[in-house]
Amino acid sequence: MTTPIFSGPLQSEVLFDRLIGDLSQHGYSIQPNALDPSFCSALLEEAQRLDLNAALRPGEIASKDAEHSSFRQDRILWLEPGLSALTDSFLEWGERLRMALNRELFMGLVEYEGHIACYAPACGYKRHLDRAKGTEARMLTLIAYLNPNWTAKNGGQLRLHLDDRSYIDVLPQAGTVTAFLSADFWHEVMFGTRDRWAITGWFRQRVR
Ligand code: OGA
Ligand code: MN
Repeated sequence: MTTPIFSGPLQSEVLFDRLIGDLSQHGYSIQPNALDPSFCSALLEEAQRLDLNAALRPGEIASKDAEHSSFRQDRILWLEPGLSALTDSFLEWGERLRMALNRELFMGLVEYEGHIACYAPACGYKRHLDRAKGTEARMLTLIAYLNPNWTAKNGGQLRLHLDDRSYIDVLPQAGTVTAFLSADFWHEVMFGTRDRWAITGWFRQRVR
């Protein structure tokens, strides 16, 4: 039997309502304790097993930036249906969220693309937008963190820049889910002191 993605007090419908409420008001949402801790630790183990089998490859950026290697420093594995039971239940959960977003916010999301990502210590991702120039497919970024016992001392924050030049730092703590409108929020991944694991993905609209 696989570990349920939720078993805590925060059932997915409640979580979806909160995410959707935040997104319509602010364009982003940060939800600690969104995913079940045992689901996150099982998924982390699975990700590490895949990594030992050399399944994860360096992430790429759309624009051929001169200093690519210092711009984005994670290693990733794209999720495909059938990769594992755990990633499949994550994808099913994402599918339910996609339908809720379409129903409540009329977002017209037609698909999800996502990957497992690991940043080694002293690796990050410089300030960027998740939409490369000329592509409008990505509508919503969704990140689920997998690291137990992550504290501020471990660094590795997601720094989400807001319009008024302030920012919000999100710790990549297991169970936390963050979502934001891909076109609107500049963000970066700060250097950390530990391996930093997440599932990062995007809901896409159809583009002509
Ligand atoms: C990305 C990204 C943020 C994070 O992969 O595009 O910005 O917190 N990730 O992992
Ligand atoms: Mn990004």
